[in-house]
Amino acid sequence: MRERYAGFDFGSYETKICGRNQEIFHEKTMLVIEEESGRPVCFGNQAYEYYEKSPEGYQLILPVQEGKIYDLSALKIFAALLAQQYRIGRKTNVYLAVPGQISQIEQRAYEEIFQETKVKKEHVMLSRRPLAEAAGAGLPMKEPYARAIADIGSQTMEISVLASEGIIAGRMFGMGSRWLDDMIALQVKKRSQIQIGGRSSERLKLEWAKEKKMQLIKGLDLAAGLPIEARIQVSWIGELFEEFFGMVADSIKELIEKLPAAAAADLIEHGICLTGGGAGLSGIAAYLEKELLIPVWNGGTERDTAILGIRQWITKDREN
Ligand SMILES: Nc1ncnc2c1ncn2[C@@H]1O[C@H](COP(=O)(O)OP(=O)(O)OP(=O)(O)O)[C@@H](O)[C@H]1O
Ligand SMILES: [Mg+2]
Repeated sequence: MRERYAGFDFGSYETKICGRNQEIFHEKTMLVIEEESGRPVCFGNQAYEYYEKSPEGYQLILPVQEGKIYDLSALKIFAALLAQQYRIGRKTNVYLAVPGQISQIEQRAYEEIFQETKVKKEHVMLSRRPLAEAAGAGLPMKEPYARAIADIGSQTMEISVLASEGIIAGRMFGMGSRWLDDMIALQVKKRSQIQIGGRSSERLKLEWAKEKKMQLIKGLDLAAGLPIEARIQVSWIGELFEEFFGMVADSIKELIEKLPAAAAADLIEHGICLTGGGAGLSGIAAYLEKELLIPVWNGGTERDTAILGIRQWITKDREN
């Protein structure tokens, strides 16, 4: 029988899946359990419906946080439910994206994620996410020149410098594009006395990134204590974007400063490729290029770069 392959990239916000037939799927990395029995109620995109409004007796769990495994038992249940839904069973080789820098303990935890599925432990291959991203973004990796990848996720930013098919330096920062959601909610509360939820503030961020105009919001009117629907002016979101871009620039500078001079010099020509959902924030590449004085570009596949790289490896392995 022909061997089967699948790929997973468990993000703090969303899990990217390369299914049996190499299609790409997305499921929110969320699980709802019934508190008393511990029984899973739903998971993934369906669980997102419970976000910030779980009824009593139900608990919404985010098993991956700040880019790391936060609740391994919940993640095992989540992986088992995914394996069932996407029909990933015995004899499947699973490629699993892991951070570029992980400790041995973290590595063991990653190896255990599929324990409650039919996938055998020896069939789980840990794939360094920055290398998968380099493949997904089509960077010429065999060359001995240093080039950087900045993966701007939801709660994490991982910046890696790669050369000759390896990682020569890297660092994870506990900050991602969710910071903007939180700041937007705070500003709406301050300016309009309206409390909005995380899903609404994320929508404002995404719409601002696309359209830059006044937005209709739904939330709680704090003065009247009643639900409200209002059209608000959100041009101030532009300033929050700039503040966020500034923090991204500072993190990248922090890593560059510690690089050997020869690797830093390579970046002048080979630059930084942006990946992760945050790469889709309009204006980010231009801002960083101006601040860092090196070429910066959006890799074009954003949140899917790592899983697309994994899919390329799978395609190669299937052919061999
Ligand atoms: N087109 C877009 N423009 C701007 N932001 C986006 C876009 N698409 C998704 N995002 C944001 O990107 C984040 C999700 O990105 P991604 O899937 O890379 O994160 P993750 O891998 O789940 O998290 P982490 O890497 O921190 O573990 C969310 O905060 C989402 O709001
Ligand atoms: Mg990620």
